[in-house]
Amino acid sequence: MTDITSQTEAALLAIAAADSLDMLEAQRLETLGKKGWVSLALKTLGGMTPEERTAAAPAIQSARASVAGALEAKKAALEAAELEAQLAREAIDLTLPAQAAHKGSVHPVSQVMDELAEIFADLGFAVATGPEIEDDWHNFTALNMDETHPARAMHDTFYFPDKTGDGKDVLLRTHTSPVQIRSMLAQGAPLRLIAPGRVYRSDSDATHTPMFHQVEGLVIDRDIHLGHLKWTLETFFKAFFEREDIVLRLRPSYFPFTEPSVEVDVGYSTEGGRRIVGGHGDAPGHAWMEIGGSGMVNVRVLEFAGVDPAEYQGFAFGLGIDRIAMLKYGMNDLRAFFDGDGRWLAHYGFSPFDQPTLSAGVGARA
Ligand code: PHE
Repeated sequence: MTDITSQTEAALLAIAAADSLDMLEAQRLETLGKKGWVSLALKTLGGMTPEERTAAAPAIQSARASVAGALEAKKAALEAAELEAQLAREAIDLTLPAQAAHKGSVHPVSQVMDELAEIFADLGFAVATGPEIEDDWHNFTALNMDETHPARAMHDTFYFPDKTGDGKDVLLRTHTSPVQIRSMLAQGAPLRLIAPGRVYRSDSDATHTPMFHQVEGLVIDRDIHLGHLKWTLETFFKAFFEREDIVLRLRPSYFPFTEPSVEVDVGYSTEGGRRIVGGHGDAPGHAWMEIGGSGMVNVRVLEFAGVDPAEYQGFAFGLGIDRIAMLKYGMNDLRAFFDGDGRWLAHYGFSPFDQPTLSAGVGARA
């Protein structure tokens, strides 16, 4: 009797002193657990005579009840305390201003594409697109490069293993020029468009990546000549670089899809290791830099694209978008454009709220 009473008192003290759910569980095992003293005491009732049992049972039952009640009450108290602590720990102060943990930015290539669209739209050019997975006919043949044309080998083309249903090779377009063909076939003449987008060549070093960006320009109309081409490019570059002293040099060249063909150079100087576009390339301290290819659309290309060369002619040009982005915004390694490094993007990226407009300046910095 006294034994049970003192054991119960000791257990109730230990339960009251438990300050964690683990300690409380240890107390439960010692009392009500399978081998706990309360459980063992209850078991002894089975081996007693009815008289003995009547005498012993109430004390044991009441010990069990008070221990169980104490365990339950303490458990509820400990759980409530833990919840309070957690709520205090995880409190959010809604009166604090929101923190801009990460701010997204517009990639310079996207920015320059928007600038291109803005400037050329002002000159009456529409924006056209074409598939990056092209067939051999649009990428080469219709651009006056038949199967045996040596220029095909110069393009380091990525080919797919399968062919189209009608047996054409499938490839990643090596330039934006196939959009010329698709646009002429779809819309006929006259035409005035730019076609910015991704192109692919198996090439990789500090100034070449296997994927890069070009913008194609195409004007088809009556009485178009090289003077229109030069004026258009000059007007574009003046608006793009936001300076009047842009000097272009057209240098005779060769492309299968233009005749005559000219390479376009722009005069620049160097300040602190950075190239600054502007000025005559032959002036002291200046030089010429190639920025693209162009020419009068080859009669054969007009024929392939269903445009009558007796009535229409036109000019086309192709510029490297990444390259003019580097020139305008001062990056020196092309590969960093495509690394997805957050620090690079934070430094060179643009605010999405800063849409290029001609009135506000096409290259305004946030
Ligand atoms: N497609 C040519 C290239 O990628 C560039 C070009 C376009 C040249 C249009 C002339 C006319 O090299």
